[in-house]
Amino acid sequence: LFVQPGRGRRDPIASMPGQDRVTVDETVRDAEALASAGIGGVLLFGLPEAKDLDGSGAWLDDGIVQEALRALRAADLPLVLMADTCLCEYTSHGHCGVLEGQRIANDPSLARLADAAVAYAAAGADVVAPSAMMDGQVAAIRAGLDGAGFATTPILAYAAKYASALYGPFRDAAECAPRFGDRKSYQMDAANGREAVTEVALDVDEGADMVMVKPALAYLDVIATVRAEFDLPVAAYHVSGEYAMVKAGAQLGWIDGDAVALEHLLAIKRAGADFILTYFARDVAELLN
Ligand code: PBG
Ligand code: ZN
Repeated sequence: LFVQPGRGRRDPIASMPGQDRVTVDETVRDAEALASAGIGGVLLFGLPEAKDLDGSGAWLDDGIVQEALRALRAADLPLVLMADTCLCEYTSHGHCGVLEGQRIANDPSLARLADAAVAYAAAGADVVAPSAMMDGQVAAIRAGLDGAGFATTPILAYAAKYASALYGPFRDAAECAPRFGDRKSYQMDAANGREAVTEVALDVDEGADMVMVKPALAYLDVIATVRAEFDLPVAAYHVSGEYAMVKAGAQLGWIDGDAVALEHLLAIKRAGADFILTYFARDVAELLN
């Protein structure tokens, strides 16, 4: 769910038909609909009022995701509330960490990510999901949560996150495309499968409770390998571009969108994902009900 400031507003995301940017009150409505469709949880992304160099909206108490979490907590829905933990939605430059000149400053980013995770836990997140791909982020967040009294808040680590062209629609939605350069110095190389095992092992050592592979369909081999090699729950993130392609093909009348969506999700499950994050959640839950 993409949360934006204001009240009573939903703005469609052009490249993600069926998905909207929604204000906090509308987020609660969407969450109610998802819960009654039988969805198990929601993952929140924030579109802050203003962006700055350090991405302060990610961790300040009045951040947009923090407000949405408090409202969702108050609504007391049978949903696991997950908070994406990254800086790119909040930084003026669109990178996932803070900068030193034109470079990503890995280690100085860690304290910011830990602060964000603590802010989400304090606002009511059941799970924090670090997606910045900074080295050491899981350890920093674990220490931050433990030190702030959130020792039981689990971490869903975006562990094997590839530098993918399939994030395009998401970056439109969150206006978080990097203003210069790209994310290839922190996200992974699509050509490298074995590095996924290294990345997942690091996150497991640092205290991850669940590990994620992202994107999903083009990385089924990675999902299968991670499932075989590790004993933690494995998540797959079926990303915005994967959703957009199916929606576009269906709108053109070239494919049966519902059937293709089901087949894709089934393949992700077959590859070994224990759970799937997908923008098709509501459509498919309604199909299956
Ligand atoms: C933030 C983040 C991104 C996505 C999830 N968290 C964007 C990115 O890494 O550029 C992409 C999700 C999607 O495409 O659906 N780091
Ligand atoms: Zn990011």
